[in-house]
Amino acid sequence: MPVAELPTQDVRHPAAVRWLHWATLALVLAAFALVLARELFDGGPWRALLMQVHRLAGVAVIGLALARIGVRQRVELASTGVTALPMRLAAGAVHLALYGLLIGLPLLGWALTSARGQPVALPFGLLLPPLIERDLDLADTLEFWHEAAAWTLAALVGLHAAAAVFHHRVLGDATLVAMLPAGRSRS
Ligand code: HEM
Ligand code: HEM
Repeated sequence: MPVAELPTQDVRHPAAVRWLHWATLALVLAAFALVLARELFDGGPWRALLMQVHRLAGVAVIGLALARIGVRQRVELASTGVTALPMRLAAGAVHLALYGLLIGLPLLGWALTSARGQPVALPFGLLLPPLIERDLDLADTLEFWHEAAAWTLAALVGLHAAAAVFHHRVLGDATLVAMLPAGRSRS
C-alpha cells in the first residue's frame, strides 16, 4: 500500500531517522543532567567526572547530528499528511535551528574548554585537539554563549515537542506517530 494511503498509526519514517532522532534527545538530556548534577558536589573527583562525561555526551551530539544530515541526504521521510505551507515552513525553520544548535552548542563547549586550557578526553586515553589557544577572558565569553545556546536549545525543543503533541492530539495527523521508535517503516 502506498505510504500516503496508510492509516495514521502505521506511518513511520525510516528507522535510521527515528533512532538517530531519539538517540540525540537521550544524549542532549544526559548532557544537561550531567552538568547540572555537578551542583550536588562541592568539588573533587565526582564533579570532575560529571564534567568529563558532559563533554563526551556533548561531543557525541555533533557526531549524531552529522550522521543525521548524512542519512537525510539518502532517505526520504514518510508522508505525514501535513500539506499547509505555513506549517511546513515553520517546522522547517525550527528543524534548521535545531540542527544549527546541535552542532554549534557543543562546538562552543569544546572551544570554551580549549580556551580554559583544558583537554576534551575521549575513551581509551584519546584527546580531542584544542579548537583555539588558551585565553581565559575569551573562555568567559564562550561560557556565556555556550550556556545561552543550551537554554535556547531547551526552549526550542519545548516548542518543537509541544507542536508534535498538537499535531497528534488536535490535528490528528501522523507527524508524531511517524517519528516514534517502535513500528516498521514501509517506505
Ligand atoms: C548538547 C550538548 C551540550 C549541552 C546541552 C550543554 C549544556 C550545558 C549547560 C546547560 C551548561 C551550564 C551549566 C551550569 O549552569 O552550571 C554547560 C556548561 C559547560 N559545558 Fe556544556 N553542553 C553541551 C556540550 C558541551 C561540550 C561538547 C563541551 C566540551 C567539549 C561542554 C563543556 C562545558 C563547560 C566547560 C561548561 C562550563 C561549566 C562550568 O565551569 O560552570 N559542553 N553546558
Ligand atoms: C534534543 C531534542 C530534539 C531535537 C534536537 C529534535 C530535532 C528534530 C529535527 C531536526 C527534526 C526534523 C527531522 C529530522 O531531521 O530528523 C525532528 C522531527 C521531529 N521531532 Fe524532534 N527533536 C527533539 C525532541 C523531540 C521531542 C521531545 C519530540 C516529541 C515529544 C519530538 C518530536 C518530533 C517529531 C514528531 C518530528 C517529525 C516532525 C515533522 O514530520 O515535521 N522531537 N526533530
